[in-house]
Amino acid sequence: MRRPFIAGNWKMTQNRASAVALASGVAKATKSVEGVDVAVCPPSCYLDAVAAAVAGSNVGLGAQNMYHQGDGAYTGEISAAMLLDLGCRYVILGHSERRHILGETDQDVNQKVMAALAAGLVPIVCVGETLPEREAGKTLDVIRTQFNGSLAGLTGEQMAGIVIAYEPVWAIGTGKTATPEQAEEVHADLRGIMAGCYNREIAEAVRIQYGGSVKPDNAAELLSQPNIDGALVGGASLKVDSFLGIVTKALG
Ligand code: PGA
Repeated sequence: MRRPFIAGNWKMTQNRASAVALASGVAKATKSVEGVDVAVCPPSCYLDAVAAAVAGSNVGLGAQNMYHQGDGAYTGEISAAMLLDLGCRYVILGHSERRHILGETDQDVNQKVMAALAAGLVPIVCVGETLPEREAGKTLDVIRTQFNGSLAGLTGEQMAGIVIAYEPVWAIGTGKTATPEQAEEVHADLRGIMAGCYNREIAEAVRIQYGGSVKPDNAAELLSQPNIDGALVGGASLKVDSFLGIVTKALG
């Protein structure tokens, strides 16, 4: 049985005070939640403050990005070891905003995944098609290409420990959610790809989150799909009530 995993991607929002308040609120609200992994991913400049706010709670800490090099002359970048040092357990990699706005390629994502795993972080690796790609019937091809490129060279053991987030680009921040059937089709396909590249046991171990306009009122239906193991939540993770509303839907 895969344990559901709900993560909040705060993106480039908050200030120090609101980040601490939101993190403390989530920690308090999830105090008695069992059977679901919960994490928040604040902007990197607030990781330290949020780490202190969630210390000793059920809430894990994640970053939204990192650089693949260990250390050195890489102005403006943050390494996996630095994230670990700040108390992170997770790092989101290959989010569509990084792919499409910042120009990250599958190869970039792959280097980051390898560095994150080597350091002991759990990567949350995002894949997802754009609207024109979906309309052209290319969704599964795009997902397969991103999977093969972003996750090249992982051992079975490494694969089993990562998290994949399927986030259709057209559903992110738009209020348009993939239907449970549309999402389940891609999630099932991803599991089939993993079974082919590795084996059924590994494929069954990997948690695949859905992301893209997940809200308390659509979460139950999405999370009830057999291959949807959690959610990567943007907008609805910025309020304690709506994030908790999604977490409680994962309780089953
Ligand atoms: P959204 O963002 O929930 O606001 O659509 C999801 C994401 O980008 O991870």
